[in-house]
Amino acid sequence: MGLNSYPVANGLILGIETSCDETAVAVVKDGTTALSSIIRSQEIHADFGGVVPELAGREHEKRILTVIKQAIGEAGLEMHRPKLEAIAVTIGPGLAGALMVGVAAAKGLSLAWDVPVVGVNHLEGHLFAVRLEAEPIIYPAVMLLVSGGHTMLVLVEKPGRYRIVGQSLDDAAGEAFDKVARFLGLSYPGGPEIEREAEFGDPAFVRFPRALRDGSFNFSFSGLKTAVVTFAKKNPQVDIADIAASFQEAVVEILVEKTMNAAKEFGAKSVALAGGVGANTRLRTVLAERAHELGLGACVPSRSNCTDNGAMIAAAGAFRLENFGPSDLSIGAYPSLHLEESI
Ligand code: KG4
Ligand code: ZN
Repeated sequence: MGLNSYPVANGLILGIETSCDETAVAVVKDGTTALSSIIRSQEIHADFGGVVPELAGREHEKRILTVIKQAIGEAGLEMHRPKLEAIAVTIGPGLAGALMVGVAAAKGLSLAWDVPVVGVNHLEGHLFAVRLEAEPIIYPAVMLLVSGGHTMLVLVEKPGRYRIVGQSLDDAAGEAFDKVARFLGLSYPGGPEIEREAEFGDPAFVRFPRALRDGSFNFSFSGLKTAVVTFAKKNPQVDIADIAASFQEAVVEILVEKTMNAAKEFGAKSVALAGGVGANTRLRTVLAERAHELGLGACVPSRSNCTDNGAMIAAAGAFRLENFGPSDLSIGAYPSLHLEESI
């Protein structure tokens, strides 16, 4: 059997994710059940306060085959020729040098194993993380996608039908967490560090500004970041925990408020969380509570399905394969790929 001829139809998809600083690979069955999911974070960036693109690509290059081997092995498959239906790989958006490592590995293994490749948009991958959860999502849904590079409200009529109804006009929510953390002397990634500090702080200590309360579904976080920095400089005696808690509260409040407003406006039946900032406990709790009050379903994926992982790429790949077939082997890395764009 030749390439692209679906030699196996067993629903097993290998998902490869290398768009940023996580080398992540998973084997997923039927787009819903992860048989293995390996995530290797790159500690090398911690001292730089952000991801260094050149280093990210080199770290992926060193680890990618080991991580693939581990994911294949943990799923009970044979590395020399695993029976797979397809290899799904992130093609963008992300860092060019980082994406290229995953794409090259996927193409090489595709030839070696005679298995088709499916290129996956990283953002669509995040939206498919909800498919890996026990609770099925009810459509139409408004999904809050909050990561290090993106903050958007996406109206999902059904899988594959997306409309971005709002997004950040400046910094992404995760970027704001990372920048504020860096200023406060905390390490990268800043989100988990701020969350840890915030546990011991008072969320009502300072009322930082909530921007764009204008009825739109767009966000702005750069003014908030500046307000936090200015306050901290003027009040060096104030405990970092109180600043972290007050900042986190401002971000969570505006994210949840706009998500609920969008759900009402567009008649959504449920709201869902996606992306790394979705790992934030306060955000998870407040979103679920507010949805419950409004009689909406709430899909809050496990923390490890919110942050970058290979299983979400495999889940989105299963959908792409079924509806659009495999990708051409000429696919490459597309650093600025948009959510609505397909290759
Ligand atoms: O989705 P993701 O893993 O990678 C991107 O596609 O960007 O998101 C990473 C972002 C980082 O900015 C990180 O600080 C943030 O998610 N993050 C968090 C938490 N865990 C990760 N932000 C707030 N609270 C957290 N617990
Ligand atoms: Zn991501």
